[in-house]
Amino acid sequence: MRIDIITVLPELLKSPFEASILKRAIEADLVSVHFHNLRDYTSDRYKSVDDTQFGGGAGMVMMIEPIDKCISKLQSERSYDEIIYMTPDGETLKQGIANQLSLKENIIILCGHYKGVDQRVRDKFITKEISIGDYVLSGGELGAAVLCDAVIRLIPGVLGNETSALTDSFQDNLLAPPIYTKPREYKGLKVPEVLFSGNFPKIEKWREEQAYLRTKERRPDLLED
Ligand code: ADE
Repeated sequence: MRIDIITVLPELLKSPFEASILKRAIEADLVSVHFHNLRDYTSDRYKSVDDTQFGGGAGMVMMIEPIDKCISKLQSERSYDEIIYMTPDGETLKQGIANQLSLKENIIILCGHYKGVDQRVRDKFITKEISIGDYVLSGGELGAAVLCDAVIRLIPGVLGNETSALTDSFQDNLLAPPIYTKPREYKGLKVPEVLFSGNFPKIEKWREEQAYLRTKERRPDLLED
């Protein structure tokens, strides 16, 4: 998989890809991530990427020309499965979206800034608009990092234990059950007995029940879908 990220702040985005699972995925060539600074696609001496709104109103708007130049250059080199715009008014990121995107070959992620991009960018280029939650960030970069993390860890071979992504919270519209490790007892806090029973069908049943109870208590909305 190849991910091209278009941003005015590449330095804000780089560190998540330089550590841990994402770094290993890149080193193992399971994914490549490329940053494109929008200012490299500007034509004026100030390298402007934004301007005031037509019709008046507070806040600057990202102009279409540098974005067109950058996306068109990338599209001349390969075809893209999705061109995603990170924006608070997009579709809220859910596990299902991450699952779908993990199967794609090439994607572009455009990070918004200021008030956002000229609507014509969205109309002409964007195939998917994603929000990471109902709050406004100062730019799309942190959202793009969240999206990339959620997607990249699902690419086959990225996680050591191939089954572990399948048992994550949300994979069955359920939260994950409680988990425990050594010691068996800590300052009087005990691990549920069933986990030592050696009876794996029984353990599995317990985990399913716990996942259901936790979901019912914390996220009943997931059970309605
Ligand atoms: N840009 C600003 N806020 C955002 C959000 N909540 N999700 C994605 N991109 C954003």
